[in-house]
Amino acid sequence: MILEVRDLVTAYGLGAVINGISFDVEAGEVVCLLGRNGAGKTTTLRSVMGLTSPRSGRIEFKGEDITGRQPFEAARLGIGYVPDDRRIFPDLTVEENLEIVRRVIRRDGQWTLERVYRLFPVLTDLRANHGSGLSGGEQKMLAIGRALMGNPTLLILDEPSEGLSPLMVKTLIEAIRQIQREGVTLLIADQNVKFARRVASRGYIMEEGNICHSGQLEELWANEQILRRYLAV
Ligand SMILES: Nc1ncnc2c1ncn2[C@@H]1O[C@H](COP(=O)(O)OP(=O)(O)OP(=O)(O)O)[C@@H](O)[C@H]1O
Ligand SMILES: [Mg+2]
Repeated sequence: MILEVRDLVTAYGLGAVINGISFDVEAGEVVCLLGRNGAGKTTTLRSVMGLTSPRSGRIEFKGEDITGRQPFEAARLGIGYVPDDRRIFPDLTVEENLEIVRRVIRRDGQWTLERVYRLFPVLTDLRANHGSGLSGGEQKMLAIGRALMGNPTLLILDEPSEGLSPLMVKTLIEAIRQIQREGVTLLIADQNVKFARRVASRGYIMEEGNICHSGQLEELWANEQILRRYLAV
């Protein structure tokens, strides 16, 4: 098991937003957290990354207890994180955005500028452009490429398909498959189950800070009631 989350409770202020969820991700898998607006997907991912401290529960990464660790520690251990708002550096060029992560995280591995450019050829022509000049889709590719420069073994993507054109979604799906083939495990939060079933094998459906269903994506997809009740199609 690469990631094991047990009885996770996370709160903002007084009210618990995550009510004691448990889930696993196995090495090599692509797993999706699904659920409507406000279900608790982002908070769950932030808890794993150490951006929001859990109130209780336990998070293990490769058998090591990382509950409550700082985000940079999670990154150094091999967790990459792409937030839903991307957070690329607008005043740095594409290439500088990529380089900076390698320098800060300093994890050796297979991901280099060349590999990232091969994964996202569109970034090659933009390498000298400032982050601020990129389209939303290009920023997303850059944010994923940047996270890969830290050579993560687990890559966390929050709402990767949100706001992308159909063509960009296709590029993204191909890229995620390629990343998985390179041996990276992925945990993805997305509202779009159509997208999720193209990339993930298993899914957990969240509602109001709980996991209400889990299973193979194809099973969830085939269940009309679940689709209608919990998911956006
Ligand atoms: N910084 C915050 N302070 C207080 N409450 C928050 C904060 N961030 C999120 N919440 C609340 O926590 C709950 C879960 O939000 P979260 O962002 O984790 O859901 P989500 O599933 O990622 O939703 P979305 O699909 O909109 O991204 C929501 O009720 C939200 O209003
Ligand atoms: Mg979210």
